[in-house]
Amino acid sequence: MPRLCVIPGDGIGQEVIPAAVQVLTAVIPGLETVVAEAGWGTFTRWGASVPAETVAAIRDCGAGLFGAVSSPSRPVAGYRSAILTLRQELDLYANVRPVRSWPQVSPRPDVDLVVVRENTEGLYVGRERQEGDTAVAERIITRRASRRLAEKGLALMQSQGQRRATIVHKANVLPLTDGLFRDTVRSVFAPHPEIEVEELLVDVAALKLVAAPERFEVILTTNLFGDILSDVAAHWGGGLGLAPALNWGDGVAIAEPVHGSAPDIAGQGKANPLAAILSGALLARQVWGLADEAAHIETAVSHTLANGFEPDTAAITQAVLGNLDEA
Ligand code: NAI
Ligand code: MG
Repeated sequence: MPRLCVIPGDGIGQEVIPAAVQVLTAVIPGLETVVAEAGWGTFTRWGASVPAETVAAIRDCGAGLFGAVSSPSRPVAGYRSAILTLRQELDLYANVRPVRSWPQVSPRPDVDLVVVRENTEGLYVGRERQEGDTAVAERIITRRASRRLAEKGLALMQSQGQRRATIVHKANVLPLTDGLFRDTVRSVFAPHPEIEVEELLVDVAALKLVAAPERFEVILTTNLFGDILSDVAAHWGGGLGLAPALNWGDGVAIAEPVHGSAPDIAGQGKANPLAAILSGALLARQVWGLADEAAHIETAVSHTLANGFEPDTAAITQAVLGNLDEA
């Protein structure tokens, strides 16, 4: 039986994660859950945004469902974003963000793509320094990280029968770093001629994601490019309230809605729980191998959207649970 470490975090994480757990438990009876804490509230109580017990609990379960955390917009001594800490501590090296068209909320039909983004290096290594009036950020690309990202992407494509990979880079300006990324990804896909591999420069990829999103199947890219492009793509899926993500390593993964803690609406019971619910479906399909259960959740979400909904966390959750019974 799968086990899940539940980390609601701050703000609306406390509202949408219990909803997602309710839905997951409905399709996977006997799912074992343990609750752990992380985030800004945790930091103010314990002096660390991710206590060691939380890391251990996620590792022990092999799967986590994370809500969102608040981060102060100014540096606070000793504080580091909980999700960045978890990605690094657990070496969650691939970030998988699927985007598809949904009834009512999507601005256009027929979008069905996945952004697979390197999750541990690039510009997010956090190596910034000031040299007088010059500020420098290091962007690290390694063969090892590029290779395992590509291997994860390839495995994902094989499990889902996807046939078209797009490598997104900027090797014309950054021939060493992005050249290494591109060549390494290509070498992983080379023994698999059944998969078509194309390349796009990141600026062209951004234009095409806006102009013709339905042409994409799987995008493989570096950390910052993937962060930006996946938010652009999320527009076609109905926006932040519907965007799920999976941080994926070896033997451990954390699913999380792409949105943040939404302090402007926290505590009011009107957060959309669908991104969290769809993140639960991602865990079911990719981590636990429960494709039917995942599809069952997604069908119920689709019916819920088709019927129209009000901004009411409890009502949306009840509608999804009701549609599960009918699906
Ligand atoms: P945000 O995603 O929290 O909110 C952006 C806007 O979208 C807000 O108007 C919010 O009300 C709305 N929104 C977001 N999720 C929604 C949902 N499920 N249902 C309905 N409306 C929703 O991003 P923002 O405002 O930039 O950041 C707020 C806090 O969240 C900050 O402290 C930031 O550091 C943190 N954050 C955390 C993330 C994480 O834990 N992975 C990711 C992004 C931001
Ligand atoms: Mg982002």
